[in-house]
Amino acid sequence: MGNKNTASESKVPAHIAIIMDGNGRWARSRGLPRLAGHRAGTENLRRIIRACVEFGVKYLTIYAFSTENWGRPRDEIEGLMNILEDVIDRELTELHKEGVQLRHIGRLERLAPNIQEKVLEAIELTKNNQRLVLNVAFNYGGRDEIICAISKMLKDGVRPEEVNEELVSRYLFTAGVPDPDLIIRTSGELRISNFLIWQAAYSEWYVTPTCWPDFSKEEFRKALEAFTQRDRRFGGLSATVEDNPSHD
Ligand code: FPP
Repeated sequence: MGNKNTASESKVPAHIAIIMDGNGRWARSRGLPRLAGHRAGTENLRRIIRACVEFGVKYLTIYAFSTENWGRPRDEIEGLMNILEDVIDRELTELHKEGVQLRHIGRLERLAPNIQEKVLEAIELTKNNQRLVLNVAFNYGGRDEIICAISKMLKDGVRPEEVNEELVSRYLFTAGVPDPDLIIRTSGELRISNFLIWQAAYSEWYVTPTCWPDFSKEEFRKALEAFTQRDRRFGGLSATVEDNPSHD
């Protein structure tokens, strides 16, 4: 990484995906309700979105609400829905000004009609912005995404011999978005949690024990630094190690 405020130009990941975990633990360790953790996490999200714009990241995908999160207590689910609405109400103008294009991945249909409408309006307003594509995974599950894709392919009458990786990618919620180069997971858990399970095939991982609300711009910069050190082989051989027998 350079000595300026930017990440190394050639090695900045084009697409970063984040599992923003640890909001609940952050709140509990302060004697606060879980929703206070989600609100602190939302504040942190603003900082990280701005850092992405500054560092030249082109795509950011955030895991805000999973298909499994419906199993949480009702007040927490309502709180997360309110946060989504608040973020659109309060941040949209600024995000639009900064050139952020908002997209949604997941299923909108289970959300309240007024929230669906706001999400669709935000997508429409920002659809031509080019600086950063922000994919908000809300009511998203990787398995659900694959089920949706198969179902659409069948409805479209796709023939078996037409099915290949490129076609499947086009049927996913992330159609047109390159696979994530780097996936960051905060608060230390070592699992994928049904996030981008197709797209993560060759992503690099960065896991930190820091809870999401405390994942600062400095730590984000460290994650980008770590990425610059990775030797990505995509199943082939390293450019420098000819006889590397590894499978990854
Ligand atoms: C995981 O932490 C976090 C979530 C399920 C929600 C993430 C949401 C935000 C950061 C708010 C931003 C939202 C939008 C809509 C832009 P956890 O609650 O599982 O934490 P724990 O494992 O410590 O309990």
